[in-house]
Amino acid sequence: MSYSDKNKALEEVRVEIIKDHVCPELENTATQLVFGDGDPNSDIVFIGEAPGKSEDETGLPFVGAAGKFLNEMLETIGLKRSNVYITNIVKYRPPSNRDPLPEEKKAFLPYLQRQLEIIQPKVVVALGRHAGSCFLPDLHISQDHGHPKRITLAFSDHKLTIVLLPLFHPAAALYNGSMRQTLLDDFALIPGIINKLSSVTVSI
Ligand code: URA
Repeated sequence: MSYSDKNKALEEVRVEIIKDHVCPELENTATQLVFGDGDPNSDIVFIGEAPGKSEDETGLPFVGAAGKFLNEMLETIGLKRSNVYITNIVKYRPPSNRDPLPEEKKAFLPYLQRQLEIIQPKVVVALGRHAGSCFLPDLHISQDHGHPKRITLAFSDHKLTIVLLPLFHPAAALYNGSMRQTLLDDFALIPGIINKLSSVTVSI
């Protein structure tokens, strides 16, 4: 799919979320839908948990304090926000920034899968346990962070194999020195994973 076809298809998914009134309670309390941002042609998609206050105000994912840290980490591996695609599992801000509920994650999962089907990334970086457990139900983020796993996503008429990299959530690591360093160390794995996937023999 071309860049503009991908953007068009993503826009259809965005409109469908609004039309379907996914999680009407969240829709009522949130200012707006926070769908996604970045390059739909990127090989890397970052998935967070849900918009916070700044994201709810701007309509863009990861633009508050956690987003600034995410931008800094991207820079450490030579990437900018505009080089990757960023979204969340839950696309409306939960009231008072509470954790997303299991049924909210379940309701939004088909739309996230559609986003991935359109973008066709090689690597999906799950930021935090809420995003990671959508793909790996038995995920234990404290043990599994920084361990890339090959997983296959099944769509109606085809499959897509990706590498899922579960990481700590940047907001959790922001004010915790050792978690922050762990997250930076895990981030440093991303270029190696991409390089390995670009070579002929892949063995992750
Ligand atoms: N935290 C998230 O998980 N997502 C955002 O978009 C912002 C903060």
